[in-house]
Amino acid sequence: MSKLLITGGAGFIGSNFVRHILKKYPDYQVVVYDKLTYAGRLENLQDVADNPRYTFVRGDICDAGLVDKVIQKHRIEAVINFAAETHVDRSILNPGSFIQTDVYGTYVLLEAVRKFDLRRYVQVGTDEVYGSCPQGSFSEADRLGPSSPYSASKAGADLLVLSYFVTWRLPVVVTRSSNNFGPFQYPEKLIPLFITNAINSQPLPLYGDGLNVRDWLYVFDNCEAIDLVLHQGQAGEIYNIGADQERTNLEVTELILKTLNRPRSLIQFVKDRPGHDRRYSLDCFKIRSLGWRPQRKFETALAETVQWYQDNQDWWRKIKSGEFRLYYEKQYGKTLTGTAEVPGKKY
Ligand code: NAD
Ligand code: TYD
Repeated sequence: MSKLLITGGAGFIGSNFVRHILKKYPDYQVVVYDKLTYAGRLENLQDVADNPRYTFVRGDICDAGLVDKVIQKHRIEAVINFAAETHVDRSILNPGSFIQTDVYGTYVLLEAVRKFDLRRYVQVGTDEVYGSCPQGSFSEADRLGPSSPYSASKAGADLLVLSYFVTWRLPVVVTRSSNNFGPFQYPEKLIPLFITNAINSQPLPLYGDGLNVRDWLYVFDNCEAIDLVLHQGQAGEIYNIGADQERTNLEVTELILKTLNRPRSLIQFVKDRPGHDRRYSLDCFKIRSLGWRPQRKFETALAETVQWYQDNQDWWRKIKSGEFRLYYEKQYGKTLTGTAEVPGKKY
């Protein structure tokens, strides 16, 4: 199984996964198939662009004709599907594209896997499909309770994938990971948004009381886990992937400010997100039984991530002055977009 189709490979986790695979498996060929939406960027894969084992195809996973052609032309053996609309706030503003890509697109890929009798299909999923977890942790057997159009469309996709195992014994696996962070994450998500705003001395818009809890997973640890499930996961199974590093959003925000030596006064409490899940938490016994453990501590990984955004300002400044600007104004109102210089008070 050395010829992989990585859909959504120009996005955040996908591009890190492409690098991981090319480095770890010197005989693997990787085809990235990506629509290049606002979130997908060829710059994310610039460092592998000249690798003879890497090919890029611009395409939509909803385009069955092109998906089939690419699979045949490159003699693809396995598909790892990262392609999705991924931002909860955007799914509240405009749910349609989430249903189209996350559900219908997954169906198109499954049909191709079935038609060409591929050896493996990995669906990259999210802990958000379980909904909010008031206490304890969710295991793979727990019922789904998605709260947003994003998580509902991801839940629909997971169920579709699993149905192809039950009905046709398709060799599928589903991963459900917690919140990722690290290099190349689009600055609409909490950690990169707050790092880049803090570098610019702009306010950090914290939803509600800031006490919602997420379990933070360094993207490289998720890549290792997806790799393991690709090669050793059991067909028809779901694997939770969490880091056991639960933090409130306020704790994360304070750590970012401290790392960048910015004042706490940059925190701006804003209106809560509708349907905002209070807490996510995963029981990861199953993936741990396969031998996987997260390797990076949150605090160290966050410091490395802050450094990456400091060192790669061209990458995110281009994004922030483009499409993102319009989205930001719609989402947060113009009040947060100015260059509100805050006196350089010590944290
Ligand atoms: P991202 O938004 O950074 O990237 C998504 C990629 O998919 C982009 O390159 C985009 O161009 C591409 N894409 C979108 N629609 C497409 C279509 N119709 N056809 C082809 N390509 C298309 O997302 P990410 O954070 O890298 O997430 C990747 C996957 O991991 C998603 O399925 C997401 O649900 C899942 N996930 C993400 C997180 C997280 O914290 N980021 C956590 C758990 C699960
Ligand atoms: P996000 O990165 O959007 O991931 P998800 O909603 O998929 O977990 O948000 C992480 C947490 O941070 C979530 O509780 C919402 C919160 N948040 C804010 O408080 N302010 C923001 O501007 C953003 C984008 C998120």
